[in-house]
Amino acid sequence: IKRLTLRDLQGLCEKQEPIVSLTAYDATQARLMDAAGVDLVLVGDSLGMVVLGYETTVPVTMDDMIYHSRAVARGLRRALLMVDMPFMSYTSVDQALGNAARLMQEGGAQMVKLEGDAQQVAVVAALAHQGVPVCAHLGLRPQSVHKLGGYRVQGREATAARRMVEDAMALQDAGADLLLLECVPSALAAEIRTLARIPVIGIGAGPQCDGQILVVQDLLGMTDHAPRFTKNFLAGQPDIQAALAAYVQAVKSGAFPAPEHSFLA
Ligand code: KIV
Ligand code: NA
Repeated sequence: IKRLTLRDLQGLCEKQEPIVSLTAYDATQARLMDAAGVDLVLVGDSLGMVVLGYETTVPVTMDDMIYHSRAVARGLRRALLMVDMPFMSYTSVDQALGNAARLMQEGGAQMVKLEGDAQQVAVVAALAHQGVPVCAHLGLRPQSVHKLGGYRVQGREATAARRMVEDAMALQDAGADLLLLECVPSALAAEIRTLARIPVIGIGAGPQCDGQILVVQDLLGMTDHAPRFTKNFLAGQPDIQAALAAYVQAVKSGAFPAPEHSFLA
């Protein structure tokens, strides 16, 4: 089996074959996802909530990310491994470069993800310049939850929507290789996808993205208050392997997300 690269993800995007992505936090999850044909695996800082039991992702450290990333890397043969830069780990170019190096060298990351708007252009450009593939996470940015005052759909008002489009283009032009949109109205995600030259992965961003991602605990029906945009793929399946296969099939066929998993406005 060949390890997927960024070029392979771009190739899927050009063929209009949806990119299937999931979060993973340990080697067993990673191995099963890999076998199920998940293309892109994210060690998300959501691990702060779903693995470590924090209320937000804010307490997650670089050491937490590296610990889980190493475990996930050991379980993968095929999928591309992306790892989140945690809260306050990319406040300057130098800090971001040092921490991205750790995620790649110690954690085995092939790509890093950071939450950002146009303020992060310098950081993204510096990472790109050093050969670090970057995914820019826009829309709902959970690391800013205390500033946002809760988890809610982003870009509903016209000015916020305009700003998100501009931010996405600025991050792309700075050298981002992927965009990830969380909790944005479907039409806004579709607009960003039309304008972008790079793949757009969505979570709660409607069906018109180049790929979809979910938190694995949501997909397996393990979370208390699963958000609207998730679906329990274990329901009606005999085991976790079958649930993962059903998710891969649903994303590849375009069956997921359905309108009830999306924000129409
Ligand atoms: O941390 C995470 O799991 C994420 C995904 C929800 C995209 O950033
Ligand atoms: Na995250």
